Amino acid sequence: MNIVVLVSGGGTNLQALIDAQKRGEIKNGRITCVISSKPGAYALERAEKNGIATRVIPRKDYDDIHTYTKAVKDALLEEKADLVVYAGFMIILDSQVVEAFAGKMMNVHPALIPSFCGKGFYGLRVHEAVLQSGVKLTGATVHFVTEDCDAGPIIAQKAIPVHDDDTPESLQKRVMEQCEWKILPQAVSLFCQGRIKIIGNKTQII
Ligand code: GAR
Repeated sequence: MNIVVLVSGGGTNLQALIDAQKRGEIKNGRITCVISSKPGAYALERAEKNGIATRVIPRKDYDDIHTYTKAVKDALLEEKADLVVYAGFMIILDSQVVEAFAGKMMNVHPALIPSFCGKGFYGLRVHEAVLQSGVKLTGATVHFVTEDCDAGPIIAQKAIPVHDDDTPESLQKRVMEQCEWKILPQAVSLFCQGRIKIIGNKTQII
């Protein structure tokens, strides 16, 4: 399967996918292209270092989300994407792309959905909100992308404890290392093997 990864920033989740691929842990799939919404994103360098094709589709070059989504959708179709992975992709695309790739797009979110998710919850902001709330557990979620932001069927989750002396930065680091970088490659591999069944708003691993 052709895996196309959408990024906007540092690309540590992309790196986790590349490393898993090198270890032979992505069964029946290959990262064929990385698309960035930001020119100069470090994720692009990670892709290039590993011989993966890159494309840049800058958000600022498009007047509105509709024309931007069309450009991304056309690129995904050209790349013959079988799976689209949002890995730190910070733009909410509109329904055109969700319709074209229904059940074929997944996102990694740095919290335990349905908590601390939806519009406005991204990056460090998520961990700031987690610390303010006083919850004792946090983690990461991989889910299918649907029209509702962060509300598609959940594929995988992993939880870790919040420490009393955590800062948003320390929490972000642990969530990435212990949760995101583990469950994202696992979910991608399961998808490529055809082992994720979507039943309504739930999934079953077969
Ligand atoms: C990751 O923590 C990812 O879960 C989060 O942004 C970070 C990107 O890091 N995504 C969101 O908050 C989306 N709602 P990366 O570029 O190093 O993978």
